[in-house]
Amino acid sequence: MVVSAGGTREALDPVRFLGNRSSGKQGVALAETAAARGASVTLVAAHVEVPLPEQDGIEVVRVESALDLQAAMTVLADSADVVVMAAAVADFRPVDYVETKIKKSHRTAADGTEDDSAPTLQLVRNPDILAGLVRERGSRRRPLIVGFAAETGDTGHSVLELGREKVARKGCDLLVVNEVGRSVTFGQDDNTVTVLDRDGGEPVPLGPASKTVVSHGIWDVVAARGDRSWT
Ligand code: CTP
Ligand code: CA
Repeated sequence: MVVSAGGTREALDPVRFLGNRSSGKQGVALAETAAARGASVTLVAAHVEVPLPEQDGIEVVRVESALDLQAAMTVLADSADVVVMAAAVADFRPVDYVETKIKKSHRTAADGTEDDSAPTLQLVRNPDILAGLVRERGSRRRPLIVGFAAETGDTGHSVLELGREKVARKGCDLLVVNEVGRSVTFGQDDNTVTVLDRDGGEPVPLGPASKTVVSHGIWDVVAARGDRSWT
């Protein structure tokens, strides 16, 4: 199986990037628990703030940007039984990568005067990796595809309503929805999630519990859905 974890980093120049608050803890816990249950796991790790596992049964592939992650996932998903997209993928990346460090001020070419104006960042959308994996699977049964949804909710919609919309839009088999905020979930050891099944059925609430316990709950839902011997 293949599990992606952590936050992608979208480079602006050699020293700067656009990133996010994902710690990668939930994705790493998923890889560790799957291996403990007998699975052979490839962990595709973007930026993670916890030690990467070194146990038997887990192979680690490092990536940085969303495009790197897409390239790795596309190849690995082809021969996987289960794919979990727990990574926090940047929705946008800078249009241009500047090869040398962007300076605070620079001399204009026109008359050589100092230009102290702030640059404007131009962004372009990253591909939706999860939706792409669903598309590439086509009518095949495998891999089972599990997405994550980080939601804050908004004035008109609850976190769960947004999750239901997302599972329909993405077409993944299962969607693990968690509520996020500045300190809720990101970087924490505990998590509270709800697992939604694209094909209906009751949502499965998990937690509040450690990310390890939540991971086992997610694998139980995966096991209940299929014929995996390792679960
Ligand atoms: N995802 C992805 N590729 C992207 C963005 C997200 O594969 N470019 C995956 C994430 O890994 C996660 C799922 O899609 O499994 C949902 O991510 P989320 O950010 O919640 O959804 P988005 O579709 O990006 O929508 P929005 O951020 O607007 O809520
Ligand atoms: Ca997003």
